[in-house]
Amino acid sequence: MDNNVKILAIESSCDETSAAVVVNGREVLSNIISSQIDIHKKFGGVVPEVASRKHIEVINAVVEEALEEAKLTLKDIDAIGVTYGPGLVGALLVGMQYAKGLAYGMKKPLIGVNHIEGHISANFIEHKDLKPPFVCLVVSGGHTFIVYVKDFGEFEVIGQTRDDAAGEAYDKIARALGLGYPGGPKIDKLAKEGNENAIKFPRANFHDDTLDFSFSGLKSAVLNYLNKMEMTGKDINKADIAASFQKAVVDVLTNNVIKTCKIKEVDKVAIAGGVAANSALRNNLIKEGKENGIEVLFPAPILCTDNAAMIGSAAYFEFMKGRVASIDLNAKPNLKLGER
Ligand code: KG4
Ligand code: ZN
Repeated sequence: MDNNVKILAIESSCDETSAAVVVNGREVLSNIISSQIDIHKKFGGVVPEVASRKHIEVINAVVEEALEEAKLTLKDIDAIGVTYGPGLVGALLVGMQYAKGLAYGMKKPLIGVNHIEGHISANFIEHKDLKPPFVCLVVSGGHTFIVYVKDFGEFEVIGQTRDDAAGEAYDKIARALGLGYPGGPKIDKLAKEGNENAIKFPRANFHDDTLDFSFSGLKSAVLNYLNKMEMTGKDINKADIAASFQKAVVDVLTNNVIKTCKIKEVDKVAIAGGVAANSALRNNLIKEGKENGIEVLFPAPILCTDNAAMIGSAAYFEFMKGRVASIDLNAKPNLKLGER
């Protein structure tokens, strides 16, 4: 191995089959993503069994393309990184078995990566000088966390959702509005034509000092509003509903992030996960960040949604800590951040 650590990373936790080659956790030589969105669209969400079968069909070609684009062969690779949780168990197993086969056959170290840690690590690719400590807001289709990143590979969860994830709420409301799947980008776009103050939807209010989130009350409020309008024969303005719903989500996320930065005395916050691509969230965080002397960082949209480059970055920092997995590594669908 020269001084550059080249990691081949594989991600298959949900509906994207992806492989990437990443050098030293920061430089992406390739990041191939085969998305199944068009297949799952007709069902209005991800169908786990269909996802696993599709991963099997494409994984070999995706890995080969990643090596080809990086102009490397397996011999040049120093370690294999793979997502082993959280995610859909059948989907995870496809990437894991493939990675384990490669690691065993090529006698390369295997590194198990937590998918959430991968989302956080996307920021190390985008911002070459970024170093812990910082606060990270992870907002995706399956997860909503505020994390204090103490060091590379060291995390403290400060707040999390008690029910739906932020992206899940976007997807459910988009479905109720007939906008299709995935709902986040559709609501983001439609909300630009609406008035965010048109309808006052509730913000979850816990009676303790928690920085946790809840989006199920908001979701019910929007669905009840839609029902009421329908039953009374009133016209609905979808753009106003999208904008008002989005404002409720963005307000809560922003407030809790700023509070966390103050508690932890940190002046840097990074955003991660599919919902980090949301324009209202970006704008609101930048505005509130400026007012509070906090720098707000985002990865490029392609690094926000599921991809293997972020897994390759996290794998590097785990590898540097000597955290190499054994060949009997298993998929952990409910893997927690920081759990090994
Ligand atoms: O991180 P990701 O690709 O997959 C998971 O690990 O869950 O996130 C997908 C989620 C979906 O719920 C999608 O609706 C949401 O991210 N999303 C957005 C936007 N782009 C994707 N939500 C709000 N605004 C967006 N622009
Ligand atoms: Zn994800």
